[in-house]
Amino acid sequence: MTKYQSSQRHLKEHQYCWLITGVAGFIGSNLLQALLKLNQRVIGLDNFSTGYMHNLDQVKEQVGAQAWLNFRFIEGDICQLEDCIKACYKVDYVLHHAALGSVPRSIEAPILTNENNISGFVHMLVASRDASVKRFVYAASSSTYGDNPDLPKVESMIGRPLSPYAVTKYVNELYAEVFSSCYGTESIGLRYFNVFGPRQDPNGAYAAVIPQWIAALIKGQVLRINGDGETSRDFCYIENVVQVNILAALTDAAEAANQVYNVALNERTSLNQLYEMIRSLLVRKFPYLKKHKPEYVAFREGDIRHSQADISKAIRLLGYTPTHRIDEGLKQALDWYIAHVVA
Ligand SMILES: NC(=O)c1ccc[n+]([C@@H]2O[C@H](COP(=O)([O-])OP(=O)(O)OC[C@H]3O[C@@H](n4cnc5c(N)ncnc54)[C@H](O)[C@@H]3O)[C@@H](O)[C@H]2O)c1
Repeated sequence: MTKYQSSQRHLKEHQYCWLITGVAGFIGSNLLQALLKLNQRVIGLDNFSTGYMHNLDQVKEQVGAQAWLNFRFIEGDICQLEDCIKACYKVDYVLHHAALGSVPRSIEAPILTNENNISGFVHMLVASRDASVKRFVYAASSSTYGDNPDLPKVESMIGRPLSPYAVTKYVNELYAEVFSSCYGTESIGLRYFNVFGPRQDPNGAYAAVIPQWIAALIKGQVLRINGDGETSRDFCYIENVVQVNILAALTDAAEAANQVYNVALNERTSLNQLYEMIRSLLVRKFPYLKKHKPEYVAFREGDIRHSQADISKAIRLLGYTPTHRIDEGLKQALDWYIAHVVA
């Protein structure tokens, strides 16, 4: 039995109270779905800045009315300390995911990004400390590797940040460390590398590449690749992210706490390869994609060229065993997008 399987079994037998911030977003709503299915009580906090009520509606549909009774939603803002205090009341585990994502957005809106991602983060740390939560697990980011060209990325070797977003995510790690040493607040940071899956928003100027491309292909629209297409990423399916959150919250190994972990697969996929994978999966249902060709445009500001995670630390200390490789994840995600994106 894997560590994850025994954690799932433990949760089925013991009910805890979890707080998910950013619960109406992509990752938050998937965490909610998994925890409700494991009979956990969940409080969710979101201000709908980039999340949607329809994500919560879909979770309700997936888990059923009975499990849904274990969920309490608070519409609120992590930039307001009172909202964080209210949300943390009697909570065992915090999974902090509320933030403004996207490197380009942060370049356009550094003050807003700073307020949400740093001030909001400190509010959540203070509220978690004062509520004596068992552990504060938070979404960190691979953007913290900045200009360090070494591959694969190892947690201890970071570079200079390349965007305001990267600064905020690095500052989060510093604050979490300081709260651990000053106040004993236990935390675990998860440096996500390009997560994808159902409910990731395909719309808007700051949409991530996978949902944006899937939607463009389904609708037969122009698909733009930034640069020459040889930029590469370590794409990580959402199920692996759900797993690592649960492992990070529940681990009782002292050396595993107050650490940051890479969360991905240790695999590198270029944008050209990704395009071909998605196109060839979709062409079965949308024959007009047989002749589809992408359009190549300029490189994107603040982007790193290659990214690939060394995941041995999460394997060793958390018992992380990724269950979905990129192709498996893409197939599952595509089914969802086909059902939800109107051609
Ligand atoms: N998706 C990825 O590939 C990826 C990679 C690295 C890190 N992350 C981090 O993971 C977390 C979740 O990302 P996601 O992809 O689910 O993004 P998302 O935009 O879908 O979800 C973020 C959620 O947080 C909410 N939110 C934002 N600011 C808030 C505030 N001030 N108060 C309350 N709620 C607020 C939004 O409304 C949204 O529902 C973020 O912290 C992000 O930086 C994501």
